[in-house]
Amino acid sequence: MRFTVASLVHVWRGAAASSWLAALAILVLTGVTQGAEMRWKEGYIPNVPVVTQDGRTLLFYDDVMKGKISVISFIYTSCRDICPVVTARLSQLEDKLGESAGRDYFFVSISIDPVTDTPEKLKEYSKAFGIGSGWLFLTGKAQDIELIRHRLGERSRALTEHRNEVLLFNDLTGEWERNSAFGDINVLASAVRAMDPVQRAAVRPAVQANAGSFVDDPLNLPGQALFLKTCGGCHTIGRGSRVGPDLQGVSTRRSRDWLTAYIMEPEKLRANKDPAALSLAQKYPAVRMPNLGLSEFDSSDVIAYIEAMTYAKRADESAPHAHHHHH
Ligand code: HEC
Repeated sequence: MRFTVASLVHVWRGAAASSWLAALAILVLTGVTQGAEMRWKEGYIPNVPVVTQDGRTLLFYDDVMKGKISVISFIYTSCRDICPVVTARLSQLEDKLGESAGRDYFFVSISIDPVTDTPEKLKEYSKAFGIGSGWLFLTGKAQDIELIRHRLGERSRALTEHRNEVLLFNDLTGEWERNSAFGDINVLASAVRAMDPVQRAAVRPAVQANAGSFVDDPLNLPGQALFLKTCGGCHTIGRGSRVGPDLQGVSTRRSRDWLTAYIMEPEKLRANKDPAALSLAQKYPAVRMPNLGLSEFDSSDVIAYIEAMTYAKRADESAPHAHHHHH
């Protein structure tokens, strides 16, 4: 049941790159939102000690889950592929839920690599996503965390095998549901609200808002959906740095070849000691830009989208009225 570095590397080299990517593609395409709703009986959730990113020891059931509606994810900070995308998407969900996040709905991320993920590591990781103390990042003794994982259905044997689902749980009603962080954030927010019976009565069937509705985005390019779902949790275009740098004007700072190579295989540039990639890594130490397994087409679509957004912003800024200036 224990994972090893060897198995991790093996899985990564062998299957991970393609299998999780295929999974992402399916999730992105179908926007998985269904979830089997089930009930947990009292006493099912282990009341073992866990340690927060602030170094506080809590009892998992009594102090974390009891009487609450929780949005639970499984992470590990050394993950270089899809898991940081999940945290980034969930931080967008937290924004979306506004004031009710931390009051009515509680975010809990549990490390599945508790030996490596010390409270300090989790603190650094959560800060990189701009997450405050209201969202718990938990580690603990390996055997306790393992028990929690198993009870909550996270049973992967190797780190890279682990699933990227989000678990929604209402302790008051005993209901739980699996969901995905890769669908429409509005739909996920509705699913979270629907965990509350009071809200459920009020929530209309989730409106299939199109992806453009949560940013004021006038464009409709092929790279848009890809950007919003896979990059938007970590990057903005013209709204400041988030987990990674603001990408506005990035194609004027970097060559096309560099951008394509970096977007497709950032880890390769780092391994080859590319100076720009290394200095970026130094500037953003807590989370690495993941290899998202994009094709050259995807990469070129997403660059076109960034350029179009950059241009749209500039045109906007230089045009106090409705018309754009041309030079
Ligand atoms: C989990 C967070 C995350 C996701 C998702 C992500 N990035 Fe990044 N990105 C980063 C971080 C952090 C950096 C800073 C460098 C590093 O990681 O070493 C970065 C750097 C970059 C850079 C270099 C910027 C510069 O100033 O030179 C580009 C370009 C980039 N990302 C594009 C993308 C695109 C396009 C996507 C989506 C297909 C994407 N990123 C998805 C976190 C992310």
